[in-house]
Amino acid sequence: MIRIQNLHKSLHGGGHKVRIINDLDLHIPAGQFIAITGPSGSGKSTLLGLMAGLDSPTNGDVFLDGKDLTQLDENQLARLRGQKVGIIFQSFYLIPTLTAHENVSIPSELSSGNHSEEKAKEALKSVDLSHRLNHYPRQLSGGEQQRLAVARAFVNNPKLILADEPTGNLDSANSEIIIELLEKLHHQHGVTLVLVTHELDIASRAERIIGLEDGRIVSDTAS
Ligand SMILES: Nc1ncnc2c1ncn2[C@@H]1O[C@H](COP(=O)(O)OP(=O)(O)OP(=O)(O)O)[C@@H](O)[C@H]1O
Ligand SMILES: [Mg+2]
Repeated sequence: MIRIQNLHKSLHGGGHKVRIINDLDLHIPAGQFIAITGPSGSGKSTLLGLMAGLDSPTNGDVFLDGKDLTQLDENQLARLRGQKVGIIFQSFYLIPTLTAHENVSIPSELSSGNHSEEKAKEALKSVDLSHRLNHYPRQLSGGEQQRLAVARAFVNNPKLILADEPTGNLDSANSEIIIELLEKLHHQHGVTLVLVTHELDIASRAERIIGLEDGRIVSDTAS
């Protein structure tokens, strides 16, 4: 599903070059549930952004389902993401002026337009937000906002879900709802799941755990 080769990402910060991803190779087979762990600043979110084609590497290649992301333009990348990728960001990026129902309708409206209202309602039901369809993000609790972000990520039946600390701001009950939902998508629909998390008990539910430090993979274990 994802093949990363000789990946480098550097940025200029404070007048000098900062290496954020440092010669990283990684293959994630289709259908795998993989967790990425590592200290704050180790490059986890950057790596996820590169996998989604939201960010471009300084060097190296990222193949998503056989397509070399570095060879695609913005429109092609957006289309590919719309068809195949669901992303749950570390900060949710919900659209504040749209209701819960509208936020979740957007991805399917953009990609197919068919039954997007119904699909959005179903997705919201599965994250237990049926009673909040017409609420705006600011009227939702942190846990509800995160559940909304998860519903938006899977409403289009993506083959790949990239989740950046999806339980980071949640209490244990809400964390469990989110993780069970992601596990269900993985088990029942064969979704490839890449989950960034600080929490070891959550990481240990994945089939494979990668440890990142200073933009390099320092461990890669089956769990
Ligand atoms: N636009 C930028 N310019 C300069 N440095 C940046 C920029 N974005 C990120 N960095 C640096 O890149 C490094 C990796 O950031 P990244 O967000 O990928 O870390 P992370 O592992 O996701 O951390 P966290 O667990 O805190 O979310 C950090 O040291 C960060 O300061
Ligand atoms: Mg991060």
